[in-house]
Amino acid sequence: MISERAPSIEIHDLTKRFGSFTAVDKLSLRVERGEIFGFLGANGAGKTTAIRMLCGLLQPSAGTGQVAGCDLLSETESLRGRIGYMSQKFALYPDFTVEMNLRLYGGLYGLRGALLEERVREIAARMRLEPLLARRTDSIPWGWQQRLNLGCALLHHPQIVFLDEPTASVDPVSRRHFWDVIAELAQEGTTIFVTSHYMDEVEYCGRVAILVAGRIAALDTPAGLKRASGFATLGEVFLDVVEKAENAEKRNRAGRSA
Ligand SMILES: Nc1ncnc2c1ncn2[C@@H]1O[C@H](COP(=O)(O)OP(=O)(O)OP(=O)(O)O)[C@@H](O)[C@H]1O
Ligand SMILES: [Mg+2]
Repeated sequence: MISERAPSIEIHDLTKRFGSFTAVDKLSLRVERGEIFGFLGANGAGKTTAIRMLCGLLQPSAGTGQVAGCDLLSETESLRGRIGYMSQKFALYPDFTVEMNLRLYGGLYGLRGALLEERVREIAARMRLEPLLARRTDSIPWGWQQRLNLGCALLHHPQIVFLDEPTASVDPVSRRHFWDVIAELAQEGTTIFVTSHYMDEVEYCGRVAILVAGRIAALDTPAGLKRASGFATLGEVFLDVVEKAENAEKRNRAGRSA
C-alpha cells in the first residue's frame, strides 16, 4: 500500500552514461503529489533521457529512486501501469482514426469492455476530440493530434504524467487548452512532470528545475527563481543560469587540465 504522503518521485544520484558520455549526471529530486514540475534545459541537456529513466523505459547507469511507489531498478513493469508518458516523438498511428488510437492505447494499458468505452468517451470529452473521433489521425491539425497524444496518456488514470515537450509547434489556442487540462489534472491530485521551451508556459509550474549538461543548475518556484536572480522574466533567468553553469564548467575543466 502506498502512503498518501509518499512523494510521487524521489530519486538520488540518477545517472545515465552512453559510453564515455554522461547524459544525466547524479540527478536528485523529490516531487510531491499533485505538483506541476517543470523540467527545463537547452537541446541535449538530458531532459528526455532523464524522463525515460523515470518512466522505467531506460536502465539507469547509477543511482536509485522511487516513482509512483515503485522502485526504479526492480519494479519497472508495475511502474509503467501507474504513469502516463507523452513522448517527444509522435507515437500514434497516423492512418488510424482518432477513436481507433484511443481504443488501441486503452487496450495497451489493460482497459477492456465497458471500462474502455467509458474512458474513451471521458477522454474524448476532456480533450474536446468528440467531433473528430471518426477522422484519420494524420488528417487533423497538429495541435489536435497532440491533444489526442495527451489523451492517450491519460486513459488509465495515471498517478503521474510525464509530458516531454507536449506543446512543441502547437498553436496558442491549443496550448492554452493543454495547460487548462494540466491544471485540472493537478487539482485532481495527478502529478505532472513537464518539459517545455516556452517560458510563458513555465510560469504555470509550481516548481522548475533548470538542467545544464545533465545536472540541475537551479531549482525553485518561478517567483523564487526570478527573485534570486533579480530578473523580471523566466526567459532571462534561464539564459543567466545556463551561461553561469557553462562558465563554471569551463573553469573546472581548465583547472583540471592546468
Ligand atoms: N541512445 C543514445 N546514445 C548516445 N547518446 C545519446 C543517446 N540518447 C541521448 N543521447 C545524448 O544525450 C544527450 C541528452 O539527450 P536528450 O535527448 O536527453 O536531451 P534533451 O534535453 O531531451 O534535448 P531536446 O531539447 O533536444 O529534446 C544528447 O547529447 C544526446 O545526443
Ligand atoms: Mg528531449
